Amino acid sequence: MPDKEAAQVKVWDVPVRVFHWSLVAGFIVAYLSAEMHKMAVHVWVGYALVALLLFRLVWGFAGNEYARFKSFIFSPQETLAYVRSLRSGHARHYYGHNPAGALMVFALLGVLLAIFGTGLVTLAVIDFEGPLLFLANDVSDETAYIFRHAHDWMVNIALLLIPLHLLGVVSGSIQHKENLVRAMVTGMKRNAPEA
Ligand code: HEM
Ligand code: HEM
Repeated sequence: MPDKEAAQVKVWDVPVRVFHWSLVAGFIVAYLSAEMHKMAVHVWVGYALVALLLFRLVWGFAGNEYARFKSFIFSPQETLAYVRSLRSGHARHYYGHNPAGALMVFALLGVLLAIFGTGLVTLAVIDFEGPLLFLANDVSDETAYIFRHAHDWMVNIALLLIPLHLLGVVSGSIQHKENLVRAMVTGMKRNAPEA
């Protein structure tokens, strides 16, 4: 709970901020390296991203109040009420992710898991490499290419979600008159009541 007297509230802890900006950098390098067919780079950045995501999943249970998944699971009623209230210009302020942002965060984490899972399977069954190599003998060529295409499709879904994520960040910043990008850099938000 934030101190009522403080001007600023510490929201995003260091691991969440390092996770976020490393994820952004890693995603860009992974995408560009695949497009440029630099597969060695792609696979190494891929491993780093897998480790980063696994860390975030653990931190979702062990991190500070705002990093924990539990703090941004909202009921469908609260989410709908938040979305409806956006039009009034007086939507409730949240220190952590708001209900709409939280939905997007879970969607992004889910699609990243799917990208990484299909990437690791593709690596094993097409390139005969990596930690899932034990799958190689059990997977037909046809199934292998399904994973290969699924990897591509999941990336396309991420490329659809990311602009919506950015739109949410910009509109949330306008709605609550606070710079959410800066908050993801400094970890701090202005002490404005949540209700
Ligand atoms: C956010 C992370 C990732 C992005 C944006 C991404 C993107 C892509 C894209 C766009 C392609 C298709 C390239 C083409 O059309 O030629 C590709 C291929 C591939 N990716 Fe990823 N990828 C990611 C993570 C991973 C991970 C974690 C792994 C496994 C460690 C992986 C393994 C592969 C492999 C093996 C291929 C090539 C399949 C083949 O041999 O044809 N990727 N990736
Ligand atoms: C320059 C581009 C980006 C900017 C400016 C940005 C900005 C932000 C901001 C401000 C938040 C906090 C939202 C809130 O206050 O509720 C956030 C959260 C998040 N963003 Fe981004 N984002 C960018 C790119 C990306 C990309 C490319 C991905 C995924 C591939 C991504 C995934 C996430 C995730 C998973 C969270 C939740 C963080 C957590 O709780 O661990 N973002 N982003």
